[in-house]
Amino acid sequence: EAADKGGWSSFMAKEITEQPDAVGNTIRGRVVDGAVEIPELTELGDDRLREIDRIIIIACGTASYAGMIGAYAIEQWARIPVEVQLSHEFRYRDPILTDGTLLISVSQSGETMDTLMAVKYAIERGVTTVSVCNTQSATIPRESDAAVYTHAGPEVAVASTKAFVAQITALYLIGLHLGRVRGTLAADAQASAVAALDALPAQVAEAVDTHEQIAQLAHWMADTRSVLFLGRHVGYPTALEGALKLKEIAYIHAEGFAAGELKHGPIALIDHGQPVFVLVPSPRTAPVMHSKVVSNIQEIRARGARVIAIVEKGDTSVLPYADDVIRIPLTDTLFEPLLQVIPLQWFALELSTAKGLDVDQPRNLAKSVTVE
Ligand code: AGP
Repeated sequence: EAADKGGWSSFMAKEITEQPDAVGNTIRGRVVDGAVEIPELTELGDDRLREIDRIIIIACGTASYAGMIGAYAIEQWARIPVEVQLSHEFRYRDPILTDGTLLISVSQSGETMDTLMAVKYAIERGVTTVSVCNTQSATIPRESDAAVYTHAGPEVAVASTKAFVAQITALYLIGLHLGRVRGTLAADAQASAVAALDALPAQVAEAVDTHEQIAQLAHWMADTRSVLFLGRHVGYPTALEGALKLKEIAYIHAEGFAAGELKHGPIALIDHGQPVFVLVPSPRTAPVMHSKVVSNIQEIRARGARVIAIVEKGDTSVLPYADDVIRIPLTDTLFEPLLQVIPLQWFALELSTAKGLDVDQPRNLAKSVTVE
């Protein structure tokens, strides 16, 4: 079994390090002459894709956070309203489904019963369904009209890591494909997104290299009982994912918040020494959001928080207020989650290890939830 782990102490550690390939393999073959072309979507017919007036993404857990992140990109590039619903909530709200609705399911296993039942519900109502899935020929992609596979390779650890970044990548490719077909994607936006995709595998590898720094941090924080995560825009679902990882494998109370929501309640939680990870947007590509998040950092610091800031390289604005600064490579705002999440994955893994827990097989959880 040690061999399967490629020399790492857990599958999760191995899978975190495989993320450059997970992203690269998901992109491979889907960018042709500077434009994104997904053959499985082309097969649905461009007319059908042009008629879409609403997208519903359904998923559970980590896949739902990938969906939330993907929603920002699809709306920006394809100008179609996107909502994200948890699979197990979807059917019970008597959802409004019309001819123009596209349902995109996101599932690593392709066997999650909640998601499968939601897909079947949509199919029965004549809705076009696309499956983003990591497992070839699993039930959900087989049932769907089209399957856009992620190529992360088999994910063994219960805590999803490489599937998550591959899911975001696939949803971005879908957004770029739809934007091109529908004529909503400007040439410069397409060029910069394709350049960001090109650079991604190497940048993900750099983010993986934060391991040692994070291991030190986790070592000092081994007794931590609660951790908060803050982000804005795509940083918000990234914060939710950071919190889920910590709950799942380190059994530590953790919550993710939209940074702007702090003043509406959660700031009352901030007490002396409370660790808070803050995902700081780029000051180059999102200056307004950046300055708002820096203000949030000042507010929580003034109330005693221990701030761990994840910033892009060269951003020194938080240095006076952060206890720890983790640096990630420069990319566009939309692509930041793919880099920012990696130190959060390492942090959960290292705290789990420090507590002597089974990183790959956390209590009460199964890799694939095949019951409703
Ligand atoms: C992620 O770390 C979790 N184990 C869990 O939230 C998972 O993402 C969820 O159960 C969905 O699984 P799926 O992608 O196989 O559908």
